[in-house]
Amino acid sequence: MARKKIIAGNWKMNKTPSETVKFIGELKPLVANDDVEVVLCVPAISIIPAIEAAKESNICIGAQCMHFEESGAYTGETSPAMLKDAGVKYVIVGHSERRVYFAVTDEIVNKKVKKAFEHDLIPIICCGETLTQRQQGITIDHIRQQIKISLLDVSAQNAKKAVIAYEPIWAIGTGKVATAEAAEEVCKAIRECIGEMYDQDTAEAIRILYGGSVTVDSAPELFSQPDIDGGLVGGASLKLDFGKIVNYKK
Ligand code: 13P
Repeated sequence: MARKKIIAGNWKMNKTPSETVKFIGELKPLVANDDVEVVLCVPAISIIPAIEAAKESNICIGAQCMHFEESGAYTGETSPAMLKDAGVKYVIVGHSERRVYFAVTDEIVNKKVKKAFEHDLIPIICCGETLTQRQQGITIDHIRQQIKISLLDVSAQNAKKAVIAYEPIWAIGTGKVATAEAAEEVCKAIRECIGEMYDQDTAEAIRILYGGSVTVDSAPELFSQPDIDGGLVGGASLKLDFGKIVNYKK
């Protein structure tokens, strides 16, 4: 079965709740395309108004992070049950900004991935190399390690539903998008790694996205690669042009 593409926006720390509602109202008619899944990962405070604003559209709302505990003394955090109850479907786990600024490790990513599945949330698991790792030729080794730890003790049945976002750190927010060839090379290696960890069926089912300075211009070539099933878009998802990225085939 062909994998359905996902075009996901990661808004990071941008837009107030009222700006979110206004933007989604304007975006709705521009993304009415049933060939792709459209996801907007908005700040936690905007999740509920975003879900309300996205009703009767094909936009689904995701979260940018989540704690791995059920509840408790974790000031400022959001639990998986809170996200599920609010109507969230996808949650980004292990974004490089969370890894760098909030000390999220591969082991923590793994705990979050398992907890997300327990609550019927789909994790968008981020991985990616630094510029130094790329220059040293250890990109694939590093990505394989991230994937293997992130998915430790995750069943094949759940792994099939997971989404992996390959986001080279040097490409995030820099305007330096990876070439389609370089992005495909890593996404293919991720799929092979999944095949080794599980089986061919799981490798074929899992969706792998590219992220890092995706724009209207770069999206079509990137998203047509055989192992790239869409994108995780930062800056370019904050503007209505995101509609053009969703419709990259038209
Ligand atoms: P940019 O598209 O702004 O480079 O951000 C990518 C990203 O980090 C998405 O998660």
